[in-house]
Amino acid sequence: MPEKKILIVDADVASRNFIARTLADQKYEVIQAGSGKEGLISAWRDHPDLAIIDPTLADLKGEEIAHKLKQDLRTSAMPLIALSSDPGMVRIKSCLDAGFSEYITKSGQAVTLLNETITRLFGITEAVTKQGGLLMVFLSAKGGTGTSSMCANLAMSISQNQPEARVAVVDMVLPIGSIAPIVGYEGPQNIVTITDMHPGETTPEFFRTELPDMHIWGFNLLAGSPDPESSNRLKVGRIWDIVKALKESYDYVLIDIGRSLSKITLPLIQHADVIALIISTDISTVSLTRTLWKYLKGKGVGASSVYAILNRAVGLEGLSKVDAEKMIEIPINATMPYLSSNFAFANSHHQPFILKFPMDTATIVFQDTAREMTALARKLRAE
Ligand SMILES: Nc1ncnc2c1ncn2[C@@H]1O[C@H](COP(=O)(O)OP(=O)(O)OP(=O)(O)O)[C@@H](O)[C@H]1O
Ligand SMILES: [Mg+2]
Repeated sequence: MPEKKILIVDADVASRNFIARTLADQKYEVIQAGSGKEGLISAWRDHPDLAIIDPTLADLKGEEIAHKLKQDLRTSAMPLIALSSDPGMVRIKSCLDAGFSEYITKSGQAVTLLNETITRLFGITEAVTKQGGLLMVFLSAKGGTGTSSMCANLAMSISQNQPEARVAVVDMVLPIGSIAPIVGYEGPQNIVTITDMHPGETTPEFFRTELPDMHIWGFNLLAGSPDPESSNRLKVGRIWDIVKALKESYDYVLIDIGRSLSKITLPLIQHADVIALIISTDISTVSLTRTLWKYLKGKGVGASSVYAILNRAVGLEGLSKVDAEKMIEIPINATMPYLSSNFAFANSHHQPFILKFPMDTATIVFQDTAREMTALARKLRAE
């Protein structure tokens, strides 16, 4: 891969040199400019892949620079990061509105944040999002709605519907993952140990052969963080790299995000082929889902990629499908019946629901839902 070029625009020489050194250490080619005007000239002349700009420059405001760069075809696609000594909300908002992808304040955390942001922005390319296996993320607005059980059981159903397909499940719920206890995996490997590995080691081949095979579940598992302590050590800058490698070696990559919506998981949601939105029938979950859906729409997530599942995890009472659709303003694609203690029973025996209770009507719902979700993902990818 050719070296990526990063432009730093900052009037403060010491700050510029400091950032330049840490970036050069990571094998980026670094170019520098000391004013807004110089920065614009360099951006158009030197074709950097990304620019880090102090928005508080004397000659041109960062917002103006961003506006000019976004208007010009040569630089309209170049990601911009604001690195600023101004922590004010007003400034942050005006910069993000002007086209900066991220706003980082100069603090002790700045270098770490900057590195994570750069890796993420470079990681999310067309090649990653539109190629390889189909990416499905499972998310909910509230805990306990059944997201992890749905993710594991639907992955199992996909694999049962398409025995030839390679299916991977990734648990990204922080601070503690819960797919491993559902499927009965007790090994040492998890998302924290994997992100800790050298980038050269986490190849598609590695994921093909080294992710534990969950046998009756029909998928390979990348387990979640085992405890909050470990989740603090998660190297989030590596996530896209790993998702990319997984997509190269699996036909379906299902990621359980649960309610862990964050800077790390938002890009996964934005670039997923299908978003499985799990909703339970209690009013508080439904109203939180409405807020979540509004937020995601504002972040460019299209309704066509959402597959909403109403899961009657809380019993027979609660809102109807029609009520929920009206409140959230999204069509509900599937309704999972209340499975009383059977679901918890299957989970605690580490067994897929449809193998434990093949005659239950929910088994058909699982199979149909899996079929519809894969068909939707394939259809959207082909568009
Ligand atoms: N349709 C259902 N009928 C009955 N019980 C259900 C149903 N869906 C989920 N459950 C039960 O609800 C509990 C929570 O499920 P699960 O762990 O999958 O939810 P979650 O949204 O992933 O929760 P968390 O926020 O802890 O990650 C489990 O005991 C599960 O068996
Ligand atoms: Mg969960």
